[in-house]
Amino acid sequence: MPTVPPVPAVPAVPVVNAVPRADATVPSTMTAVVQDRYGRQDVLEVREVPVPEPGPGQVLVEVVATSLNAADWHIMAGLPYVARLAVGPLRPASRVQGRDVAGRVRAVGAGVTAVRVGDDVVGRPGVRDLDGGGFAQYAIARPERLVPKPPTLSFEDAAAIPLAASTALLGLREGDVGAATRVLVNGSSGGVGTFAVQLAVALGAEVTGVCSTRNVELVRSLGAHHVVDYTRGDVTRRGERYDVVLDMVGTASVHALRRVVTPDGVLVLGGGGKGRWLEPMPTIAEAHLRRAVLRQRVRPMSEAATHEDLAELVTMAGDGRLRPVVERVLPLTQAREAMRHLLEDHARGKIVLVP
Ligand SMILES: NC(=O)c1ccc[n+]([C@@H]2O[C@H](COP(=O)([O-])OP(=O)(O)OC[C@H]3O[C@@H](n4cnc5c(N)ncnc54)[C@H](OP(=O)(O)O)[C@@H]3O)[C@@H](O)[C@H]2O)c1
Repeated sequence: MPTVPPVPAVPAVPVVNAVPRADATVPSTMTAVVQDRYGRQDVLEVREVPVPEPGPGQVLVEVVATSLNAADWHIMAGLPYVARLAVGPLRPASRVQGRDVAGRVRAVGAGVTAVRVGDDVVGRPGVRDLDGGGFAQYAIARPERLVPKPPTLSFEDAAAIPLAASTALLGLREGDVGAATRVLVNGSSGGVGTFAVQLAVALGAEVTGVCSTRNVELVRSLGAHHVVDYTRGDVTRRGERYDVVLDMVGTASVHALRRVVTPDGVLVLGGGGKGRWLEPMPTIAEAHLRRAVLRQRVRPMSEAATHEDLAELVTMAGDGRLRPVVERVLPLTQAREAMRHLLEDHARGKIVLVP
């Protein structure tokens, strides 16, 4: 991965820079954001629950910071309905969500040798049927989903990275983005988009970001060569074409987005939409159908990031070559407000929660 140019400072946020206590012992109960049913953010309840026990091949992490992702909204809402087949038909199989974690290893299950108690780590927690997500004081993770946290990276910034930055990297990889590729990132000021812009610039691409007026300067500060304000016109009707279009919004049709892709370019669909029944399945089905008949490639993002991908992203952030954009750091107990802000106010970059 080439070097990312330094990113100018983004507007200041009240960062807590928490560190775990060196002498902490694991209690039997913990504060967690628990979800017993699907619904709006009022299904998220702050409760005292047992600390989960790491099983064989699992790790208990004391959570110093976690962050919100669109995936947490999907599981909170249980939408699209079809997704409930995977995450729990009547209620979530795991009652504690949270797909990112930065913290300190406090216990390891049988057979774990890759991490040790006391290691500071960052990664993707959660094990089906166990209340082990990141929205809690302790989370369960598999060691292959954790990487060392560099000392130069705060826990809050680290927690912003795993799912969103991996998604951005995979999206750019789907588009074979490289030097001189003309890339359009639709949704460039959000959790995934802020990473996608920086990574595409690092790969040598000429990057255009799309966002609303208030975020234009932010996206420019991340290195975007051009920024389009979607409140001032439809980006699919400007007559410009790009080699790769990374769509992190999901509101425009594949048909409309194809207008901005060069004849042999790639449209990468990352945005899920907020439909109730099948979204984004119809868009993905359309993508597969079009792929069969068009020279333009339309690719849904489906592949999972590897351990090496996560390690590289975290190393880049530790070196200052990749800057997590953290809009807010809130106490875990304000998870409802954080989710409301993510959905209704269009968060910029990531929202981090600290237990
Ligand atoms: N977070 C993840 O790791 C992850 C993983 C897999 C898939 N996804 C999918 O990727 C999508 C984006 O996720 P995210 O976490 O980056 O969301 P997000 O933080 O809510 O960001 C949404 C972005 O879309 C922009 N936007 C909103 N309406 C727009 C419009 N009409 N035209 C152009 N841009 C518009 C927003 O800009 P303004 O704020 O300036 O309005 C913002 O930049 C979601 O659909 C999610 O399901 C996310």
